[in-house]
Amino acid sequence: AHPETIYEMVGGHEAFVQLTALFYEGVAADPPLRDLYPEQDLGPAEDRLRMFLEQFFGGPKTYSETRGHPRLRMRHVDFAVTPAQRDRWLHHMTAAMDRMGFPAEADQMMRAYFERAAHFMVNTLEDD
Ligand code: HEM
Repeated sequence: AHPETIYEMVGGHEAFVQLTALFYEGVAADPPLRDLYPEQDLGPAEDRLRMFLEQFFGGPKTYSETRGHPRLRMRHVDFAVTPAQRDRWLHHMTAAMDRMGFPAEADQMMRAYFERAAHFMVNTLEDD
C-alpha cells in the first residue's frame, strides 16, 4: 500500500520507539538538560514523547487518549526552557534523526517541525 502518513513512511511504531530511545540517551548524558526533567526515571517521559510524535505524524491517537489535548506549550511552563536548553534539546533530536536516516521527504518534514516547535517552547529568556 502507498504510505500516506509520515508515521508510515518512516516505519511506524518501531521507528518512533527507536527515535525516542536515541533522543533520551542524549538527554540522559547531558546534565544541564537532564536536570530539567522532574522524574528520576526518564522512561515515562520517553513514552509520552513517543506517543505524542506518533499521533502528530499520523499514527495512533494513544497520546490524546491517555493524556488529553496536547497543549504542549502549557505543559512546558513548569520547566525553564531557555534558548540554550532548547538548543540542547534540538541537538539531541537532530543526532537521533541522523542515526535513524529516514526517507528524505519525511526526514525534512520532521526536522522542520522539531525546529519550529522547539522554538515555540522557549518560555524563559535569561541565560542558564
Ligand atoms: C514533556 C514534547 C521541546 C522539556 C514533554 C511531553 C511532550 C513533549 C509530549 C509530555 C507532556 C505530557 O503529556 O505531560 C515536546 C516537543 C518538543 C519539546 C514535541 C519540540 C519539538 C522541549 C524542549 C525542552 C523540553 C525544547 C527543554 C529544553 C521537557 C520536559 C518535559 C517535557 C522537562 C517533562 C517530562 C515529562 O514528564 O514528560 N515534551 N517537547 N521539551 N518536555 Fe518537551
